[in-house]
Amino acid sequence: MPAKQGQGIGDALIRAGLDALREQGCAISFVLGHEAYYPRFGYSPDLAARFASPFAGPHFMAMMLDSDAPWPQGGRADYAPAFGR
Ligand SMILES: CC(C)(COP(=O)(O)OP(=O)(O)OC[C@H]1O[C@@H](n2cnc3c(N)ncnc32)[C@H](O)[C@@H]1OP(=O)(O)O)[C@@H](O)C(=O)NCCC(=O)NCCS
Repeated sequence: MPAKQGQGIGDALIRAGLDALREQGCAISFVLGHEAYYPRFGYSPDLAARFASPFAGPHFMAMMLDSDAPWPQGGRADYAPAFGR
């Protein structure tokens, strides 16, 4: 709802989602989103660019969920099959 936007709710939801992924032991998170918004959480287009993907471009970003972990040299990123058709 527009009246609820810009109050930090989206920020809190994204941070809670990232915490949940860390608790599940996920190593890396990818996002397709606004290039001016997601870097504040740690997402980087430079990390995502190491991965071959149909989503390549400035809106395709990734972040290591352990900020001390080394960046992977490369790989491939796709949607899960249910979302990739
Ligand atoms: C995008 C959305 C989830 C953000 O949630 P929110 O609770 O309003 O965001 P927050 O209050 O945590 O953060 C506000 C920041 O987000 C930015 N922002 C909000 N919507 C944005 C958008 N569509 N694109 C880029 N930045 C956006 C604001 O400019 C603001 O930036 P600032 O902190 O530099 O001033 C929410 O505004 C929304 O649902 N928008 C309509 C649907 C939409 O655009 N969804 C995106 C689909 S990928």
